Amino acid sequence: MRIAPLDIHDPAQADEVFAVEQATHAADRPDNPPPLYDLLITRLRQDDPEVRLALMSAQLDGRLVGYALIALPTIDNRHLAQVEVRVDPRHRRRGVGSALLEAMIERAGAEQRSVLIGGVTGPVPGGPPRGEAGARFAEAHGLTPALPNTQRRADLQATDVAAEQRLLDECLFHAADYDIVTWHGITPDRLADGVASLVNRLVVDAPIGEIDIQETTLDTERLHAEDHNALARGTHLVGAAAVHRPTGEVAAVTRIDVRPPGDHGGIWLTIAHPKHRGHRLGTLVKIEVHRRVRREFPQLRYVNTGNADANAHMVAINDRLGYVPYETATAYQRRLS
Ligand SMILES: CC(C)(COP(=O)(O)OP(=O)(O)OC[C@H]1O[C@@H](n2cnc3c(N)ncnc32)[C@H](O)[C@@H]1OP(=O)(O)O)[C@@H](O)C(=O)NCCC(=O)NCCS
Repeated sequence: MRIAPLDIHDPAQADEVFAVEQATHAADRPDNPPPLYDLLITRLRQDDPEVRLALMSAQLDGRLVGYALIALPTIDNRHLAQVEVRVDPRHRRRGVGSALLEAMIERAGAEQRSVLIGGVTGPVPGGPPRGEAGARFAEAHGLTPALPNTQRRADLQATDVAAEQRLLDECLFHAADYDIVTWHGITPDRLADGVASLVNRLVVDAPIGEIDIQETTLDTERLHAEDHNALARGTHLVGAAAVHRPTGEVAAVTRIDVRPPGDHGGIWLTIAHPKHRGHRLGTLVKIEVHRRVRREFPQLRYVNTGNADANAHMVAINDRLGYVPYETATAYQRRLS
């Protein structure tokens, strides 16, 4: 076996990586949308000032049978390395994944990273089957569960529009001092500063379990750079915010990232400032963002979101909006130094 840096700009290697991704999808999560070549390869080739990727391949007899990456934040949380490992199902249980992970751990150490994090999917009652491989593999390498998390999915085409309107009216009754605004594309200038501040609060306000992560320092310029980056990768951004009318403060925000022609979108984040809680703002921004997405992307059917299991308020909102659990996505962690 040969473990070597992966040159994702080489079209032949990119094709082999995509083949591994397709085989992994078919074996592990066939109920999820199939991987798209452009989306995957653009992500792996990304030129993002916030996150650098280091990529490794595993080859057997000159054929790529697995690959791994670590995502290295460049501005905030520079002690972290986020790892992903994929092995072709026909070549598992032969040490390929271990060799890739060891190479990545070594690289993370060379990059002065002290904490390794990886996401592992598992089954939920009533959901599609999920194997044990990810969890057993992570545990075999000294990673431990740090944040139990569940992925949920709403079917927008099954929305009961009358019930949604009733919920909206009920929530608006508690939010008389707020305007709900929505947008499509770059975060509007007048909201960007407030949105960036709320994003920075996420790891302070949302439960993060044992994960060793620090508050971020996003500002308007970096938020806009991230928006432009997402747009360049073919992602449409649809956001909703609650603005406190007397002060002009951005009190809550959410955003759905849509990748046409796919019929799945994902929630980037939803957060309400603690000062403005109790006004149903979390529910309001989500209803409005759902409505805008339904109007502008009729092909989009499912919206996916991940919530820490300890995040009772967010989970309750999602339950009311028709999100249904479909898999766990636990964050595992290992200290490297
Ligand atoms: C998880 C994954 C990377 C493992 O790759 P692999 O090449 O089979 O891993 P290895 O052969 O190096 O396995 C190392 C150890 O992990 C554990 N392990 C791996 N797969 C397992 C399984 N299906 N059941 C139980 N234990 C398993 C075992 O302890 C194994 O050692 P052993 O074979 O001597 O018993 C692979 O199954 C995969 O690509 N899964 C999909 C993506 C994923 O879940 N990635 C991990 C999170 S990023």
